[in-house]
Amino acid sequence: MPINIAVFASGAGSNFINLFNKIASNNLNGSIVLLVSNNPNSGAVKFAKNNDICIKIINKFRYKDKATINKEYKSSLKENKINLILLAGFMKKIPVDLIKIYRNKILNIHPSLLPDYGGKGFFGMNVHHAVFNANEKISGATVHYVNKDYDRGPILIQKKVEIQNCKGPNEIAKKVLEIEHEIFPKAVQIFLNKM
Ligand code: GRF
Repeated sequence: MPINIAVFASGAGSNFINLFNKIASNNLNGSIVLLVSNNPNSGAVKFAKNNDICIKIINKFRYKDKATINKEYKSSLKENKINLILLAGFMKKIPVDLIKIYRNKILNIHPSLLPDYGGKGFFGMNVHHAVFNANEKISGATVHYVNKDYDRGPILIQKKVEIQNCKGPNEIAKKVLEIEHEIFPKAVQIFLNKM
């Protein structure tokens, strides 16, 4: 039985699009059947619409409180029989009980070499600004399992990239994103091979 995958994404969705295309073309034993997003105007949602992927928008404008939001996450995952969750630029915190239900079945991509530049406040461009300001010569990306300690779950794959010639955080972000697109599908493949 192929594994049903849900992607959670908030932004441009380049990781989501890349995952969707690679999973389909590499004949992996899984398929992305659900996109969960807090942002109805995101690139991720647009791509899902154009590719007939089921979309669930979950945010505080649509649902009144955290408990209801939590319930919505759980029911949409259940309805779609999801057994793997991929966090691909998802800007909201995953509720602890969802992490418990999907123990070792949630993977996150982080745009740094964790544990460096991880944890509170280190998300999106903040990471690349911090890396640039610290004059780092090397950065990279990490795919890790999600547990209750933010950005601290066991690492599945990590890859470095040289950034010493980058003139600013945007250039670093671009180089790191290329690495993300390489390692996230590989991590999914490793996960699926173990199932
Ligand atoms: C990526 O750098 C990801 O690591 C970070 O947010 C960015 C999302 O990019 N958490 P995209 O939406 O996949 O293009």
